[in-house]
Amino acid sequence: MKTNKSKFPFVLVNMAMTADGKIATANRAVSSFASARDHEHLLELRATADAVMAGARTVDSAPINLGPGPARYRKKRLQRGLGAYNLRVIVSRSGSINLRAQVFQHRFSPIIILTTRRVDARRLKQLQALADVVKICGRNEINFRAAFRWLRKRWRVKRLLCEGGGELNDAVFRAGLVDELHLTLCPKIFGDRRAPTIADGRGFSHLAAAERFRIKSARRIGDELFTVFERTSRT
Ligand SMILES: NC(=O)c1ccc[n+]([C@@H]2O[C@H](COP(=O)([O-])OP(=O)(O)OC[C@H]3O[C@@H](n4cnc5c(N)ncnc54)[C@H](OP(=O)(O)O)[C@@H]3O)[C@@H](O)[C@H]2O)c1
Repeated sequence: MKTNKSKFPFVLVNMAMTADGKIATANRAVSSFASARDHEHLLELRATADAVMAGARTVDSAPINLGPGPARYRKKRLQRGLGAYNLRVIVSRSGSINLRAQVFQHRFSPIIILTTRRVDARRLKQLQALADVVKICGRNEINFRAAFRWLRKRWRVKRLLCEGGGELNDAVFRAGLVDELHLTLCPKIFGDRRAPTIADGRGFSHLAAAERFRIKSARRIGDELFTVFERTSRT
């Protein structure tokens, strides 16, 4: 199990993607389209992570709690010397997260919201009442390098699993903080240029700036391809 000795956590991104590179349909109605095996893979990765992170639209678009799942995964965590439950991190620039999202209804582990000064005072109070910590990490944009340093130092997060969506992933890729990408390729086509992909924010405008990875492993299971990419350099 790889962790970073640096001041940042070792960051993994895990996503399921159609053969045409989409992570949901354009209307966001379908985002769960991979196999039960892929879901197990997600839980296996969660069982290696100190914290699991997702963007506001991912958290409020589906009934997810970002937790370790069934007891056998909690047992694996304990065998690895981790706490039974992972920390949960939600990212929201404006604080627009649905206050009734499922994630807030499960109190098994701390919930940390990373946000910015854009959040107005009323909303900030609402979020503070729901989450264990609301951390302001920038004026208009989140400084992910500072946020991740803080997660490592304050919360001892050595392995951080980022579960999307595309907008959040893009920012973490751009910050040069993704060490490993777990991508499950599913034999479906969603089409539509408005459908989200694994990295959808501002992106890189020239090749030299692009983040670079190499294939670490690729394994076909059933009808899906489970791939792992590792970053070739670190800034
Ligand atoms: N197939 C898969 O493996 C998979 C995995 C995850 C998600 N999905 C799907 O992907 C879709 C969601 O993806 P998405 O790209 O639309 O949303 P997302 O990245 O989950 O969330 C976007 C929101 O997160 C916050 N955010 C993102 N980047 C930020 C940054 N750099 N700084 C501060 N806040 C940031 C913002 O919240 P505020 O608006 O509150 O500021 C933004 O509106 C859903 O349909 C979901 O089900 C699929």
